Amino acid sequence: MQKNFSIAIDGPAGAGKSTVARAAAEALGAMYLDTGAMYRTVGLYFLRENLLEDRDEIARRVDGLNVQVKFINGVQHMLLEGEDVTEAIRKPEASMAASAVGAVPEVRAYLVRLQQETARGISIVMDGRDIGTKVLPNATLKVYLTATAEVRALRRYAELRGKGEIPAYHCVLDDLVERDYNDMHRAASPLKRAEDAQLLDTSNLTLKQSVDELVRLARAAIGE
Ligand code: DC
Repeated sequence: MQKNFSIAIDGPAGAGKSTVARAAAEALGAMYLDTGAMYRTVGLYFLRENLLEDRDEIARRVDGLNVQVKFINGVQHMLLEGEDVTEAIRKPEASMAASAVGAVPEVRAYLVRLQQETARGISIVMDGRDIGTKVLPNATLKVYLTATAEVRALRRYAELRGKGEIPAYHCVLDDLVERDYNDMHRAASPLKRAEDAQLLDTSNLTLKQSVDELVRLARAAIGE
């Protein structure tokens, strides 16, 4: 029987990490955990409390929060104080809130603990910003998945249009560049490619090609 494996996928916003990681997890028979959803959930809480500017208060309160990950028919749901916020955390204001709370070390400590507990004893594909560098330092495979900012903004733009929103492309691009900057320049676990992570640039790849390449890398690392 094959041993459990873990696959860490990091990269900037809009690189397609979650779509690619979810499809690869399914092909590999592993569980998929979207850690961005966890930061979004904590971000939404502090956004609602109007406390996003108050890092000290965020640090004080985060340990008392009730954030839960539930899998319903294989789909990851996020519960905040018992409320299902899976839809609410996809709003653009929740993205920026996630990036803001992600800079608070106490928030990272709280969520990293939850992520490591979730990964224990199972085969998992996890995506985020610090999975290869911090959450799963001994992962079977680490991948840094990226694409140019323009390609990423175009994909996000198309996704929002698909949901019936009519954003301005330059706003989507500006948001993404600002979030990249925040995520790469914060003091606590900034987004960076782990030294032993393989680079996967999807700028010129279709979704299927990206998934196939990730699955190929994973199978090689697992030794299948
Ligand atoms: O992957 P995403 O766009 O849903 O992530 C939202 C924000 O959460 C992102 O801008 C940075 C933060 N984040 C993080 O700091 N660490 C992670 N492991 C995942 C997300």
